[in-house]
Amino acid sequence: MLNENKKSQPGESPNLTLWSSKFGFLMAAIGSAVGLGNIWRFPYLAGQNGGGIFVLVYVLATLLVALPVLIAELMLGRAGRAGPVAAMRALIVQNGSSRVWTGIIGWGAMVAAVLLLSYYSVIGGWTLKYTFSAILGLFTHIDQSHSAHLFQEMVNNPWVLMAYHGLFILLSMLIVVGGVEKGIEKSAVIMMPLLFLVLAILVIYAATTPGFARGWHFLFDFNVKNFSMRAFLAAIGQAFFALSVGIGAMMTYGSYLTKSADVMAVSLKIALADTLVAILAGLAIFPIVFTYALAPTEGPGLTFVTLPIAFGQMTGGIFFGTAFFVLLVLAALTSSISVLETFVAFLAHHFNMGRFVATVVSGFVVWLLGLLTVFSFNILSSFHPLEFLGITGTFFNIIDFLVSNVFLLGVGLGIAVYAGWALTQQVVAGYLDVHERSIRFVLWRVCVRVIAPIGIVVAFVFECFLS
Ligand code: TRP
Repeated sequence: MLNENKKSQPGESPNLTLWSSKFGFLMAAIGSAVGLGNIWRFPYLAGQNGGGIFVLVYVLATLLVALPVLIAELMLGRAGRAGPVAAMRALIVQNGSSRVWTGIIGWGAMVAAVLLLSYYSVIGGWTLKYTFSAILGLFTHIDQSHSAHLFQEMVNNPWVLMAYHGLFILLSMLIVVGGVEKGIEKSAVIMMPLLFLVLAILVIYAATTPGFARGWHFLFDFNVKNFSMRAFLAAIGQAFFALSVGIGAMMTYGSYLTKSADVMAVSLKIALADTLVAILAGLAIFPIVFTYALAPTEGPGLTFVTLPIAFGQMTGGIFFGTAFFVLLVLAALTSSISVLETFVAFLAHHFNMGRFVATVVSGFVVWLLGLLTVFSFNILSSFHPLEFLGITGTFFNIIDFLVSNVFLLGVGLGIAVYAGWALTQQVVAGYLDVHERSIRFVLWRVCVRVIAPIGIVVAFVFECFLS
């Protein structure tokens, strides 16, 4: 069992593992939300999908769809006092709900968590490799084809990918093995302020470059002709992914939250910080891209192919390049530990493992599963496992699609419906510790019962059947 820190809270069992401070929890939860999705994915999606309109829809989707589900997920974790499976079992007993919910929310989240971490840590490995390359000055004076070649060379080599993927998981394990307070919280309190500092330095630098005005317009001007239904739904999907809901990680983090914490207020802070980081990342990246006359609509290669060219040309490029990739490492690492913790807490609870053993087992399983993603870029790059169903795509494409579009949205929908419809108004108001007639509670209920489910279902149907 996880009992590394025993602190009594009034009215609660003295054996609970809890965050030692609200600030620590906030940093850990913002760390979970702020990840590769904000710095790597958001800017290229905005770049491809109409700039300002995409940003606006993204912000609205965050507030109306993802935030209400985040509140529900943290709330369920705290009320069930455990990770997704055990929390749902406890809540079902407390409320006499159907056992189906443990399947949908609990097991769905666990499968999603393990699958997500398996490929997230491969990309986390890329960020480590690129940090070393930046420090060593390997980007100096490279051109487009040279940069593309550097990237290809990395992903073509399964040994290199395996090693960095392993190193990234090992770093996450070193933090998680320390426990909630001494590992996760302590590291988040250092890493998150550092992340904000590095981001601020990069934005300030970007503001001094000649491409700043163009970068600004690119990100904020309404470019209606690049916006489509597809872009609209991508914005909803991205809001969901960026806020880390639907994986059970927030449920696990919520289970360490004291009764006195204001879940609604804290969730709003997480959502605002998360959105702010995404926008600031765009403001750091696009001016640099325009200053060096590079393509802003490159897509996934924006971070790993386009930006290194700019770092290789600018004065102080080794410093700024290193800073940028360190930023990515920090963002990825604080996210991956929340997913790893979900797996570790699960093994500790259900298999009665100690934290050390649970961490080693989780890390190994995730590394092994990650090999499917590793090989998708090289030896299995032309293997399409679901071709017989008419689905083309490597293991990586399929796992990413399953996690981002099927599991995340499915579990998210389950959480919204369970919190909004299966539990009574009185029970949820009690879990959230707010007055049933307060404006924020009424607003949240409308979002979680109606707006969020509609948004999720529309995004889901479109992604799976119409795109
Ligand atoms: N929010 C993370 C990011 O922006 C990705 C993510 C999605 C995630 N779901 C998660 C991270 C669950 C941790 C836990 O990159």
